[in-house]
Amino acid sequence: MTDFSERVEQVSISGIREVFEAAGEDAINLGLGQPDFPTPEHARQAAVEAIEEGKADAYTSNKGTRELREAISAKHDRDNGFSVPPENLVATAGGSEALHLAIEAHVDAGEEVVFPDPGFVSYDALTHIAGGTPKPVALREDLTLDPAAVEEAITDDTAAFIVNSPANPTGAVQSEEDVREFARIADEHDVLCISDEVYEHIVFDGEHRSPMTYAESDNVVVVNACSKTYSMTGWRLGWVAGSERRIERMLRVHQYVQACASAPAQFAAEAALSGPQDPVDEMVAAFEERRDVLLDGFSDMGLDCPTPKGAFYAMPKVPDGWVDEVLDRGVVVVPGEAFGDHGEGYARISYATDMGTLKEAIEVMREATNATL
Ligand SMILES: Cc1ncc(COP(=O)(O)O)c(C=O)c1O
Repeated sequence: MTDFSERVEQVSISGIREVFEAAGEDAINLGLGQPDFPTPEHARQAAVEAIEEGKADAYTSNKGTRELREAISAKHDRDNGFSVPPENLVATAGGSEALHLAIEAHVDAGEEVVFPDPGFVSYDALTHIAGGTPKPVALREDLTLDPAAVEEAITDDTAAFIVNSPANPTGAVQSEEDVREFARIADEHDVLCISDEVYEHIVFDGEHRSPMTYAESDNVVVVNACSKTYSMTGWRLGWVAGSERRIERMLRVHQYVQACASAPAQFAAEAALSGPQDPVDEMVAAFEERRDVLLDGFSDMGLDCPTPKGAFYAMPKVPDGWVDEVLDRGVVVVPGEAFGDHGEGYARISYATDMGTLKEAIEVMREATNATL
C-alpha cells in the first residue's frame, strides 16, 4: 500500500478553517484574511477586455506577460526604493505560490527555516512540505520580530529566515532599524531572507521598509501580491522578486507546478498596479478608523493589545476561555495558537468588516470579556 509522504503528514489543515467550521451560519466573521472591498473597477475591466479580445486564452510566458512584469518593476521603483528588472520577477498564483517557490528553491531536506511565532500559517507548513525543519522564533512584547532573536536562531543548518512586515496575525510593522538589521544578517550570515510584503501598503504609523533596499548581497527575495493591496484575493496573482540566479531556480519550480499565473488575472493585476491608486488610500483610511475603534473597545473592556501599525489585524492578550466565549456568542475570532505555540493567550481579530458590524462585534467581545475576567 502506498503511504502518504512524511512531509505531507506533518502538515494539517489550518486551525483557522476549523474555527470557521465551528461557527454558526449567522456568525459575524472577524476571522477573515481578506479586505471587504471590491477589486478596483479598472482592474476588473482590464480582465474583461482581455478575455473578450481573446488575449487571455493561452499560456503566457512562464514568468508572466512582459507588460505585467514591467508594471511590477515600475511599482518597485515607485514605492520601494529598490529596482528589479522585469527579468527578475515571476508572476505567481498569489503570494502563497511565491512563498512556496522561494522555500522550495532554497531549502534542502533537514535544513532550517526561521520565522516569527505567532506568524502566518504557511511558513511552518511550506517548510515541512519542502522537507525542512521549522524554527519558530518568539516575538517581542510589542509583537515585532527582534533581529537579535533571528540572529541567535541561525545555525550552520539555516537555509532561510522569513520576515513579514506589516505582519499577519499581529499587525506589527518593523522599524527601519530592524529592517536594516535583517538585511545585515542576510549579508553577514550568508542566509536567505524571504521578505513577505503582501501588506506593504496597509500601514498607519511609520513606513513600510524592505530588506531588499539595504542588503548588499543578493540574499533577499521579496514576496508580494495584489491580493491585499487591491482586494484581489480571488484573482490569485502575486510575484516573487530576486536576483537572476535565484529567479532562475524559482522558475524551475514554477514552470512545473504552475506553468504560468492565470492570464486574465495578469491583465487585471497590470491595470491595478499601473492605474490610479486612490482605491488603496481609501481602503487604508477605512482600516485605520476601524483599528482605532477596536483599540478603544479593547482598552475599555480591559484587554491589553499592542497597537497594530498595519495590515488589518489586532492581537489582544485574552483570558483563558475567551475565544470560546466569543465564538459561543456568534463572533468568529481565531485563537492565537493557530499561528504558533507563542500565540497562546492571544486572539487574532480581523477588522476587514464594516464599521457597524465591527461595533456589534465589540459589544459581544465586551460581554465575553466580562464572562471570563
Ligand atoms: C502574511 C501573508 N503572506 C502571504 C499571504 C498569501 O496571500 P495570497 O492570497 O496572495 O496567496 C497571506 C494571506 O493571508 C498572508 O497573510
